[in-house]
Amino acid sequence: MPGASLSNPTGFKVEKGLGSLDPGPFFLRYNTVMAAERTQDIAGPVLPGNVVLIGFMGCGKTTLGRLLAKRLDATFVDTDRLVESEFGPIPALFESRGEAFFRDRESEVIDRACTERGLVIATGGGAVLRPANCEAMRSSGLVIWLTARVDIIVSRTSRRRHSRPLLDVADPRERVLRLLGERSPLYRGCSHRIVDTSDRAPTSVVRHMVRLVEQWSHEVPPVDEVRQ
Ligand code: S3P
Repeated sequence: MPGASLSNPTGFKVEKGLGSLDPGPFFLRYNTVMAAERTQDIAGPVLPGNVVLIGFMGCGKTTLGRLLAKRLDATFVDTDRLVESEFGPIPALFESRGEAFFRDRESEVIDRACTERGLVIATGGGAVLRPANCEAMRSSGLVIWLTARVDIIVSRTSRRRHSRPLLDVADPRERVLRLLGERSPLYRGCSHRIVDTSDRAPTSVVRHMVRLVEQWSHEVPPVDEVRQ
């Protein structure tokens, strides 16, 4: 696997909650022990699967995902950062190899993350474009669609516009509206729950998500049992 090493066999850069976690020993144990033993490494409530955050750029997937992972004492991964750790910054990747190349790498890391358990996974805004990604995400756990009003998305994404090639255009608002129109049905179809992040403090959104995760973890058996 590209990016994998002896000390980090999955190639993941992992973060546990807000603090960073030494990836080597953790992932050596994480990948090789049985599920029952894993829970000894992960002190918090045992999630029946992963919590996957989807949604448009600027809706808070990374920020809220980190905070949620901390609250759940779960491991946080961000699929954009996983791609970047192997292939460099996304804008340069779009420029040199094209969007399709990025989408292929994105699908690979989504697939890899979704075979793990007990993760909070923040995805890129275009993760829903491929049905196979949605299938992998939905069958790995709880998929939460983070939304925000258009004006909020435009304002949040204007701060780091150059880091998002799809919005690095003359009229970003028009682009946001068009992409939202195309993608909203995909986010809806892919998600189990919807959480609006407009005008809400991150702590309040995270509290809401923790309640959803708790409900879900009481309702469903672990996803591996469901699959049997
Ligand atoms: C994209 C969103 C970005 C990143 C890439 C493409 C998209 O992630 O994956 O620039 O197609 O919406 P964020 O949603 O985290 O900004």
